[in-house]
Parts: sequence; C-alpha cells; structure tokens
Amino acid sequence: MAGTATVAIHRREGSYSDRWIGRCAELGIPYAVVDCYAPDIVSRLASCRALLWHFTHARPCDLLMARNVLTAAELLGLEVFPDRATSWHFDDKIAQKYLLEAVGAPLARSWVWYDLESANAFIDGATLPLVFKLRRGAGSVNVRLVRTRSEARALARRAFDGGFAPTEGPLTDARRRVGRARTRHDLAGMLLRVPATLIRMNRARQRADREKGYVYFQEFLPGNAFDMRLTVIGRRAFAFTRNVRPGDFRASGSGSIDYDVRRIDPRCVTTAFEVARRARSQSMAFDFVRDASGAPRILEVSYGFLSKAVYACPGHWDERLGWHEGHVWPEDAILEDLLERLEGGIDAASM
Ligand SMILES: Nc1ncnc2c1ncn2[C@@H]1O[C@H](COP(=O)(O)OP(=O)(O)O)[C@@H](O)[C@H]1O
Ligand SMILES: [Mg+2]
Repeated sequence: MAGTATVAIHRREGSYSDRWIGRCAELGIPYAVVDCYAPDIVSRLASCRALLWHFTHARPCDLLMARNVLTAAELLGLEVFPDRATSWHFDDKIAQKYLLEAVGAPLARSWVWYDLESANAFIDGATLPLVFKLRRGAGSVNVRLVRTRSEARALARRAFDGGFAPTEGPLTDARRRVGRARTRHDLAGMLLRVPATLIRMNRARQRADREKGYVYFQEFLPGNAFDMRLTVIGRRAFAFTRNVRPGDFRASGSGSIDYDVRRIDPRCVTTAFEVARRARSQSMAFDFVRDASGAPRILEVSYGFLSKAVYACPGHWDERLGWHEGHVWPEDAILEDLLERLEGGIDAASM
C-alpha cells in the first residue's frame, strides 16, 4: 500500500508541489519535503520510495542539474516524476526533433545544422519563409519567422559566432505585455514594476548559457489562427486552443485561450496518446497546428505546462476516446499515477 512509502517532494512555491503537498496531506500519504539542491540529496532520498520535482525551464539551475538528481533517484529504485523518458528532451526542441522522428510522430519538418557551411547550403535551396527557433524557451519568445535568405544567413552566422541569449529581453513581447496591463487597468503598476523586471531579466540573462553552435529551422505552416494544445497525463488527454497574437503567427504565450472542444481536430487526440505511449512519457503537452492538407503537425512537446490552463478544460478523453466531463488538476493526475505505480511495485515486491 502506498501509505507505507514516503513520497519526497521538492518544493517550489507556485509550482505543482503546492498541490502535491496538499493532496498527500489530505490523503494521509507519508511525504517529506526535500531540497534537491542539497549536496547530500542522494543519500537523503535513499530512504524514500518516490520523488516528485516540477523543475522549470525558467531556472537555469534546474536545467543544469534537476535531471541528474531525478535520474539518480530512478537508479536508487524510486518512482520518479518526471522520469528520464519524460524529461530528457524538456526545453530542447532539437532533442524533441530526434525523439519525435524516432517514434514516427507527425512533426512539422525540422532541420538542425551544426556548422555554418551546411546551414548556408540548406538556406540557399530552402523554401521560404522558414521558422527559426532556439531550442530553448517558451511563450514564443525564441521563435521567429524568417522571410528572406539574407535574414536566414545572418541568423546562421550569429549562431556560429556570438550566439543568442535564450531568455526574454526588455522588448520581447512588449506589445502583448502592455496590452495585458491595459486590459487589467494596470499600466501604472506595470511601469512601477519595470526596474524590478529589468533586474530579473538581467540576472536570468547572466545565468543562462548563450545558445550557439547550432541552427534550427522548421517549415512554416501558414494560415493557423490558433494552435491546439493537447496534454496527455497517463490515460487522460486534455485539450484547448490558443489564438495567435493579432498580426502574428504565434499562439504560445498569447494568453488568448479557447476551450471549445469543437476546435480540436480529433486526430490530435489519437496522435497525442500514441506519441506519449511510444515515448513512454508520464506527461506530455503537444503544440499542434495544421499543414497545407489540414492534417495536424506537432511543433514541440513538453512535460511541464501551466496547470491552471489544463484544469480549466471542461473535461478530458480516455484512451478509448471516451469523454469524461469535469475539471482535473494535472498535479493530482500526476500524483495519482505515481501512487498507482508505487502501489503496484509494493504489491509485486510483497508477493
Ligand atoms: N512551424 C510553424 N508553423 C506555424 N506556426 C508555428 C510554427 N512553429 C511555431 N509556430 C507558432 O508559434 C508558437 C510558438 O512556437 P513553439 O515552437 O511552440 O515555441 P514555444 O516553446 O515558445 O512555445 C506556436 O504556438 C505556434 O502558434
Ligand atoms: Mg509552444
């Protein structure tokens, strides 16, 4: 029974750990809040049965070492979220390209080049426009449309020279941010926060490595007024759509979410289940848009996402495409699956 196991939870306020801790307390599951940054974390974990850590792309230190600690925990025999299969490609669109190709997923055609000559040869013959992306980043901050060969060549040159800062700058998405503050009648508040925001951005910039040594392009799939965000957690699939920003092709980070399930292509649901299964992923969020023939194509995947956006979905599908009405917190679903695995493991061990 899971009650005999201690579930270790790395706490980060505002992350999935808030609900994980709350749920464990509610359900009477023995849990321990652990600090995965502690130098003796591995020996501390040795007495636990499971580890949950919602690590984030927004913390360079998480990206530096979270997967190392999680993998070590897996080796100790703990049930882990996210496990290696779920997290190895997180915040890395290049890793996702290899993964999605390996499992035969309908990824939008993507190219990665590791030297300038090959990149330029590709650019010379490529169909434009192309979408240029850094492998890292969220909310569309590192995604842009490249309309000309000279623009593509300039980006490639920079990729093999000084590289790019992967974190947002003061002018990134400024129009959207001002727009949001305006709708909240909070322009003055936003201006007051400018100095703190600049300090935070500067700190993030200093800590993050520059992105260089590769250049990544994706075919541009035009005419999508929204993208379809599918989220598979175990046997559940959630979906919503995000409208692109006005006058832009990018949806991610627009903040304009629509929960009308009639906007979801049913093929996205089956594909998402199938890809998550083949990737052996405990949790996988997909960005889909349609190609010229109307078929859904995957742009990227992620184990982590904004949980309240998924909670707001009116229901979810199971693997047989049965619809289940009602809201589910992703954190609860993740914990439920982990406890189930733990229970199975303990039952099998005591037989
Ligand atoms: N190849 C593409 N064709 C058309 N639209 C795209 C393409 N790639 C990205 N987009 C749009 O840009 C948004 C951000 O791209 P994405 O790869 O998801 O980056 P991020 O990690 O910032 O979310 C997507 O939500 C989608 O609306
Ligand atoms: Mg995205």
